[in-house]
Amino acid sequence: MSIETRPTDPAILAYVADHTWPEPEVLARLRKDARAAGLPAISIGPVQARFLQIVLSIAGARHVVEVGTLGGYSALAMVEALPADGSIDTIEAEPRHASFAREAIAAAGESERIRVQDGGGLDVLPGLADDSADAIFIDADKESYGAYLDEGLRIVRPGGLILVDNAFAFGRLLDESCADEDVAAIRAFNERMAAHPRVQGQIVAVGDGLWVGVKRA
Ligand code: DHB
Ligand code: MG
Repeated sequence: MSIETRPTDPAILAYVADHTWPEPEVLARLRKDARAAGLPAISIGPVQARFLQIVLSIAGARHVVEVGTLGGYSALAMVEALPADGSIDTIEAEPRHASFAREAIAAAGESERIRVQDGGGLDVLPGLADDSADAIFIDADKESYGAYLDEGLRIVRPGGLILVDNAFAFGRLLDESCADEDVAAIRAFNERMAAHPRVQGQIVAVGDGLWVGVKRA
């Protein structure tokens, strides 16, 4: 069998992490504070955060929409890659998480550039204008990923980015004995993304698998 890479070899992943810009102090502290506050430890990791920054920089992104703020880690990472007049609308359904994130974002001095919107993705996304964002990062409840994609394709401008977390379904993607609903939702989402006429995307083996897609004109 021919294989181009062994992207999930743990030694390679450790090597990649060792050759990635280190996690900034503000994000390291946020990770600790979030754990201490009892938030679920399901945020993106430092390597994925750096990768998102690179992708947004290449794209010259100014305005980003995020579905699933959690404690604000990914929003605070992404905002670092935006120009001074850039901004993020990040949507969070769980009030406790939204309130934690707002405090962390204020403490980091980013309340102007990052707006935490309360509600579910399907409450907030329909209020955002067509072609108004350079990128969307979807990292929320898995059963709604398809609906978030549809809204994202309306909100992101042609040539903009569709970024989606957890393509590897928490590492259980290929476990055929796993009938978990979220895993099934990710599997269905991946099939749709792979065949979608309006997105040219690929799953990148960073974190739990990251879809990086471009909205075709
Ligand atoms: C989990 C991980 C995630 O990145 C996420 O968005 C949701 C859940 C998890 O490991 O359970
Ligand atoms: Mg995720």
